[in-house]
Amino acid sequence: MRKVARILGWFVAVLFLAICTFLGWTLLFRPLTRPVTNQKFESTPQRLARGRYIVETLGACIKCHSPNNLLKPLPGTEGSGWVLPPPHDNPWKHKTVAPNITSDMETGIGLWTDDEIGRAIREGVARNGRSLNLRMPYIHYRNMGDEDLAAAVVYLRTLKPIRNPLPETELVFPVQFLVRTVPRPVTSPVVPDQSTTEKRGQYLVTVATCAECHSSHDFSGHALDSLTFAGGDVLWFGSTPATVPNITPDETGIKSVTADSFRDILRTGQYGGRKLHPLMPSDQYAGMTDTDLNDIYAYLRSVPPVKHVVDFTVAATPCRICKNRHGGGERN
Ligand code: HEC
Ligand code: HEC
Repeated sequence: MRKVARILGWFVAVLFLAICTFLGWTLLFRPLTRPVTNQKFESTPQRLARGRYIVETLGACIKCHSPNNLLKPLPGTEGSGWVLPPPHDNPWKHKTVAPNITSDMETGIGLWTDDEIGRAIREGVARNGRSLNLRMPYIHYRNMGDEDLAAAVVYLRTLKPIRNPLPETELVFPVQFLVRTVPRPVTSPVVPDQSTTEKRGQYLVTVATCAECHSSHDFSGHALDSLTFAGGDVLWFGSTPATVPNITPDETGIKSVTADSFRDILRTGQYGGRKLHPLMPSDQYAGMTDTDLNDIYAYLRSVPPVKHVVDFTVAATPCRICKNRHGGGERN
């Protein structure tokens, strides 16, 4: 009898532990989110124009979310989604899919409400509650102003519906759990500070996610604060690697670049007589306004200069600063 009681005791203890672990796990790893509302963004000509500018030009959303030749979407496929080539030369073998964001009812976001689309863009949670992975740069879009978010959603609704079934994103263990810890709800109004040229530039750089590419990330994909805008990452897009350059106002960065040539570089994708790697979204930035480019330039002049030689034109060598291998690495 005592034996039976002991076994039963163990059984209850193990069951209790299993329940606690399960509850802890799901509570800990469920994304922090908020319920969606029935908010509707009214379509106005201003919002349509601004939304087009954000989705097609400034945010280059359309480049990621369409099958493309690395420069721009294949004509007639805009917004229909594609399987992204792997990001870095790193060991994570994820399959990342940029979904169909046209209004197709079955394979796109035609059935999503405005708030569901807005929540995905700024807060990283899909309609079904799943956390989006960080290839969708929602961490930057968190700071997108309410009016710009409304404009982006209004414009997305006008993309021609395209039926394009795609595979699901597959992340390797434990990343599929870790991504759930990142989303945070946006619960108060977001109104960007537009009081100075630099502040305006800072906001534009956020929506354009320049820092996402032009910084260094460690092995696990965390951006290194001391190397914001200082480049060094080796991005692999299919088989063509690109080292992202330093765009801080240092001699090893773009200190000598004038505002006029800065606008030219961003719009033409040419620098020093060389065509830049197509990952730099110049085909999209070609449509940026002079004012926006001047503001971005002013902001980049105001960030701390970082000494970090990154030279795409010479062979890759190990770099002591960013721990990557890139052109000119041995000069750091
Ligand atoms: C660098 C590539 C990239 C850029 C730039 C990008 N996205 Fe995404 N987006 C993704 C990926 C990848 C996902 C899916 C992530 C996942 O499933 O875990 C996604 C998901 C989404 C979703 C959710 C759709 C769904 O079915 O889950 C929406 C809506 C969206 N993006 C809109 C935008 C908008 C609007 C912009 C520009 C302001 C943008 N994206 C810029 C890669 C990108
Ligand atoms: C998707 C990644 C990506 C994004 C987003 C991006 N860039 Fe780039 N950028 C690159 C790559 C890659 C190169 C280097 C190409 C080469 O050297 O061939 C580059 C080159 C440049 C250059 C040329 C500098 C030099 O020394 O060669 C400037 C300036 C620049 N980017 C500024 C910006 C600004 C400003 C933004 C935001 C408005 C931005 N980039 C957004 C990837 C990106």
